[in-house]
Amino acid sequence: MLENLEVLPPDPILGLIAAFAQDDNPEKIDLGVGVYQDDSGRTPVMQAVLDAEARLLETEGSKSYLPPAGTAAFNTGVQQLLLGDDCSNRYGGRLASIQTPGGCGALRIGAEVIQRSSAGNRVWVSDPTWANHLPLLGGAGLTFETYPYYDLAGHRLDFDGMMACLQQAQAGDVVLLHGCCHNPSGADLSLEQWRAVTDLALQKAFTPFVDVAYQGLGAGLEEDAAGWRWMAERVPEMFIASSCSKNFGLYRERTGALVLLAETEQAAAAGKSQALNAARQIYSMPPSHGALAAGLILQEPALRDAWQSELEQMRNRIVQMREALVEQLGDDFAFIRDEFGMFSFLGIAPEQVTHLREKFGIYMVDSTRINLAGLNSDNLEYFVAAMRSL
Ligand SMILES: Cc1ncc(COP(=O)(O)O)c(C=O)c1O
Repeated sequence: MLENLEVLPPDPILGLIAAFAQDDNPEKIDLGVGVYQDDSGRTPVMQAVLDAEARLLETEGSKSYLPPAGTAAFNTGVQQLLLGDDCSNRYGGRLASIQTPGGCGALRIGAEVIQRSSAGNRVWVSDPTWANHLPLLGGAGLTFETYPYYDLAGHRLDFDGMMACLQQAQAGDVVLLHGCCHNPSGADLSLEQWRAVTDLALQKAFTPFVDVAYQGLGAGLEEDAAGWRWMAERVPEMFIASSCSKNFGLYRERTGALVLLAETEQAAAAGKSQALNAARQIYSMPPSHGALAAGLILQEPALRDAWQSELEQMRNRIVQMREALVEQLGDDFAFIRDEFGMFSFLGIAPEQVTHLREKFGIYMVDSTRINLAGLNSDNLEYFVAAMRSL
């Protein structure tokens, strides 16, 4: 059986990680991989997570399965983080969520639910979008249309293009939006633009699916949520995929949630039961460790305060790197200061990407997306010198 199969090429980002690992240049810099790094280039476990884990070690007592929807502390905590502390009063039974293996799990289970609905299976994604959106949603059978989002030559959000294109969206279509810190461009919708997209969703009766993988790393925990909260208060139906990989640093613990906001309580119950059934067909129960830790942090005021201030330090470091880079590279790169989260496109030519890799050991994906958190006080000067040499 297996001999009938072809060997597939490795994922480009994994190929880049492998090439970086083999590079013996002592000054090499990895701007490709999408994980946060501190000023010493490490991706440490957050102190609040270590403290929560220490408590779990004392109290957990069993590794028996979690319930299929995961734990209530985690699901409630994530709902409140996304939609505000008063969300259960505001939305009541219209809101349902299940814990998933990471944001990827939430995107995939959300796609499975959409595919099972008779309404349609067409999803509009931004051009560009995170490369993994296509296999995650397409693997469930959804088909794609793209809407313009980022003007690479102009280094800016193409909001007019986006809105003009989405005029074609129809009832039953899904429009995938990045909640904040758009990956790969870093260009986010302003609150005013979220309002306009909300009006369009109401007019065209499409369902927004908001992918929230970086809450707290853009403008702040509450600030980042303002746009999708505005939308949630107005649209009859919305999907949210939430990831704790970046903002809790729980990458390998596969911690996330799919949140469904439905028009009625009955539709929410139906959506949740379909999500659980889809999960049962794929992985049965969610993993527990990361969600227990995140749930504890979200419910315990002291842990939550500690986590929030740590997250704010991470966010500030990224903002500082953006500012330092623009200061050193000059106004041609001023757009980097106006973008959010870990990523921005440098917008250099493909041969310059190769040159930076081969001559300087500076690694980035071919699209020129860089992870600003890969820069730090030790390597910034080297990176700037390499850029000036182009
Ligand atoms: C835009 C976007 N969505 C979702 C995810 C999912 O992350 P995870 O499955 O690791 O929680 C990521 C991770 O890089 C992402 O960049």
